[in-house]
Amino acid sequence: MRNYLIAGNWKMNKTPSEAVQLAKEILTLVKDSDYRVMVAPSFVCLPGVAEVLKGSNIIVAAQNMAGTEEGAFTGETSVLMLKDLAVDAVLLGHSERRHIYGESNEQINAKVKLALKHGMMPVLCIGELLEEREAGKAETVCFEQLEKGLAGVSEKELDNVVIAYEPVWAIGTGKTATPDDADAIHASCRKKIAEMYSAAAAEKMVIQYGGSMKPENIKELMAMENIDGGLIGGASLKADSFASLANFNK
Ligand code: PGA
Repeated sequence: MRNYLIAGNWKMNKTPSEAVQLAKEILTLVKDSDYRVMVAPSFVCLPGVAEVLKGSNIIVAAQNMAGTEEGAFTGETSVLMLKDLAVDAVLLGHSERRHIYGESNEQINAKVKLALKHGMMPVLCIGELLEEREAGKAETVCFEQLEKGLAGVSEKELDNVVIAYEPVWAIGTGKTATPDDADAIHASCRKKIAEMYSAAAAEKMVIQYGGSMKPENIKELMAMENIDGGLIGGASLKADSFASLANFNK
């Protein structure tokens, strides 16, 4: 079985004190989860949350970072700052970064390589817009995001990479891809990884699904052969809801 990862993306929600409270509540509820569990609070919430979760089974991730280590980049946050806070993972190329802030595949690739250089686990987010899906281009878009996002990443480094497939039309909309539709894209992406690297690399690649995943639909999604976890927004903001996701098998 692949090493499933259930992750909460808190986006621009929770103040630092609310985030600490949520982390404490989650910690007690998910400490016996059978899976890897991760939370991604906003930058300003990271110090407090990392402190609460220190030494626990919950991985602390950032939601983004800069593509360079340091310098004159007003408003940016560096991998060195995140490492100093014991942040071990980072979401990169989330569709909100791509489509609201115009991040390109090339910028995302620089961030992926920088994260790997510093031993951080990048969660490379990919996914198509509704019009791309309707035009039959879902796979083409995802393949391009994979190829460009992983350019220059070695097969050995790939061990530390997670992919999150999030169809943009399903994010925050309440519309979930059907388990079959999601699994079909996951399977195609896995095949693409096999072509880019090897069958062995593809087989062990963890590919999360994201887009309105919630306690009511996680079981049927996770029952699919190629779905290895979830990247969850809305349903990760309450401890009991996130705990039902992290403990979906119980
Ligand atoms: P959602 O967000 O679960 O609220 O759809 C998922 C994500 O954007 O990571």
